[in-house]
Amino acid sequence: MGSIPPKLISKIAELREAVAALRRQGKTIGFVPTMGALHEGHLSLVRQAAGECGATVVSIYVNPTQFGPNEDFSKYPRALDDDLALLAGCGTAIVFTPTDATMYRPGHATWVVPGDVAEPLEGQCRPDHFRGVATIVLKLLNLVQPDAAYFGQKDFQQSLVIRRMAADLNVPVEIRVCPTVREPDGLAMSSRNRYLSPDVRRRATMLWRSLELARHRVDSGLRDAAEIVSRMRAMIDTLPGARIDYVVLVDPDTLRPVERVERPTLAALAVRIENTRLIDNCILEPRG
Ligand code: PAF
Repeated sequence: MGSIPPKLISKIAELREAVAALRRQGKTIGFVPTMGALHEGHLSLVRQAAGECGATVVSIYVNPTQFGPNEDFSKYPRALDDDLALLAGCGTAIVFTPTDATMYRPGHATWVVPGDVAEPLEGQCRPDHFRGVATIVLKLLNLVQPDAAYFGQKDFQQSLVIRRMAADLNVPVEIRVCPTVREPDGLAMSSRNRYLSPDVRRRATMLWRSLELARHRVDSGLRDAAEIVSRMRAMIDTLPGARIDYVVLVDPDTLRPVERVERPTLAALAVRIENTRLIDNCILEPRG
């Protein structure tokens, strides 16, 4: 059976009309916002949305306002034809691909400024990143008005920021966070993995191995957070060309540092390997 190509829409009025038509057919709407360069991680979100909702809308938009002045906005991978082919196989109804002028009309001056959960970790390393993310996600949610929106756990802090934004601003949407999808050697899938040379790509698996190390230490009874972090850092420091932005054990609801791993704890890290910045995380679950 051939796959049905999604409807490709770039104008707001057309998007609203297409979503309204799906609603008239009695369909619930699942929404997956993306910046394109899709990989299996995105497709797992699309499949989850398709399994739980009557119709799925995917947006592909590289949002300039979430990139800092020295970040990779201009070289962020763009692969629309490949993305559309991948989405056709996942039962997507609509792909929304707005331009910058559509998303930020001249004189745009209103921003969503997220609170405390946006401040540590990525917020320290990428000032204004979450202001850009929260603003574009709210705009997209206002345009699509989905029943549920799907995000990946790899961007754990982003999903917390969005959950808080939706709750604080009474956005009528269920925020669903789905597990990180990994390559067979453990590397978290990311559009930015395309930047990695084969050699750096091989070295990058060390990030996952450091999270596994933390997990094993917790499984074998170690509870001291500073000790676990120091072992993770020591492992990452053996990587030639690696620079650690952060390696932390924090409370998964508040992102505040913990001293002991006595309940589910987020281990999160951001590391630059040569010119590429990678993030990853896992939840440590102490037993007994
Ligand atoms: O996670 C992403 O790809 C982006 O931050 C998002 C949520 C699509 C907003 O631009």
